[in-house]
Amino acid sequence: MAPVVVKSGPTCAVIALKCPNIKVTIVDLNQSRVDAWNSSDFALPIYEPGLVDIVKACRGRNLFFSTDVDKGIQEADLIFVSVNTPTKKSGVGAGFAADLNYVELATRRIAAVATTSKIVVEKSTVPCRTAESMRTILDANSKKGCDFQILSNPEFLAEGTAINDLLSPDRVLIGSLQTPEGRDACESLANVYAHWVPKERILTVGLWSSELSKLAANAMLAQRISSINALSAICEATGANIDEVAYAVGKDSRVGPKFLKASVGFGGSCFQKDILNLVYLSESLHLPEVAAYWKQVVQLNEYQKRRFSKRVVDTLFNTITGKKIAVLGFAFKADTGDTRESAAITLIKHFQEERARVVVYDPQVVESQIWMDLSEASPDISLDQIKKQVSIAPSALEACHNAEAIVIATEWKEFREINWELVYANMNKPAFVFDGRLLVDVEKLKQIGFKVMSIGRGDTY
Ligand code: UDX
Repeated sequence: MAPVVVKSGPTCAVIALKCPNIKVTIVDLNQSRVDAWNSSDFALPIYEPGLVDIVKACRGRNLFFSTDVDKGIQEADLIFVSVNTPTKKSGVGAGFAADLNYVELATRRIAAVATTSKIVVEKSTVPCRTAESMRTILDANSKKGCDFQILSNPEFLAEGTAINDLLSPDRVLIGSLQTPEGRDACESLANVYAHWVPKERILTVGLWSSELSKLAANAMLAQRISSINALSAICEATGANIDEVAYAVGKDSRVGPKFLKASVGFGGSCFQKDILNLVYLSESLHLPEVAAYWKQVVQLNEYQKRRFSKRVVDTLFNTITGKKIAVLGFAFKADTGDTRESAAITLIKHFQEERARVVVYDPQVVESQIWMDLSEASPDISLDQIKKQVSIAPSALEACHNAEAIVIATEWKEFREINWELVYANMNKPAFVFDGRLLVDVEKLKQIGFKVMSIGRGDTY
């Protein structure tokens, strides 16, 4: 098979690993990202456990990284379109609809450059019926003899566990038009995955079902978290314990135990964006009740973050002005350096508004990213101004030195294993820990002397 052109690191690395007969070329216009993928010391542009070993095994063999997009398109039989689809910031649907500008640009480029027939695969999460727009663009601009089949193949991997999710996925979903040509294209892509995914896990459906399923899966996962987080507020008010409630509820096999961990709020590049997308779709289809239902999942998430910050202020005797707060974790979840929609950004903004001094530590997120996120969150304040209130520490121990309170925003394993006795010795007293991730051993910390407040537990000190 000729090369596959893509822009989706872990997925394509795994395809290259499992399909030595396929040449995979990842093309990206961003030179520095491509340089990082090609770097001799394997300093890859994303942190994902297990990824570097696969790149080491395949790079230069059947996995290539390049900025030569046109060559990539020309050589490929199958092209994954894996570009950003951020929420629109202005114009019709601002704040809800997906910005499909990059999808359109990539599609137009394929039509302009391709000299042979291709299978074009939507990998980016897109609103229902985007494939139809892609098809119209390709048909209107293609050269004679070039036939394009469009497939939808949404990506279900989660960050931090991407390689495992790709190696043994719950399912691979491929949507196609139900024409003979559409089904043939679908089979070609299914054959790629069949190199390592059992046949019964490769689901083939209609194009629109596939597009909608991705939004639906993310909306339902996020809805579980908002449901458990709503219950965590009731637990805090009644003395029930959210971990016990989640355990008891999750034991019902119809509910199941996963995605019931209460937290300071979900983040990441997908959940909020995809739900807002679904809200917009519902409104466009004149289904206001459906739109309101899904919107509430995002509103509850915002409420959870506000509620947590308020608890910090209330507990610290109704003021945190001038007080030092250590924020442990900046990534939106553990085992990733990604900060998109991370709850930590919102919490720190709240603490800034209360004029606290904040010290942040995260084991993976680079400093420049933290400054960029905090600047974006407070566009009216200069970075110099932000740096007067916020600083970044090189370790958890240093972040906590002389702090009044510790806020755990990301569930990094190393936070469970810090030398809590030493942390306590170096903090102002009373020393508070606000656990937004149900991570620490509350009893152990209480014995040391900490006053511990966890999401979904009443006053625990
Ligand atoms: C998600 C989907 O899981 C994945 O299938 C899809 O392809 C992309 O979006 P991701 O955003 O990488 O993946 O991470 P995920 O593990 O789903 O976590 C999202 C957020 O929810 C994180 O902030 C996480 O900390 C939070 N979360 C998750 C909870 O608060 N409680 C839980 O029980 C699970």
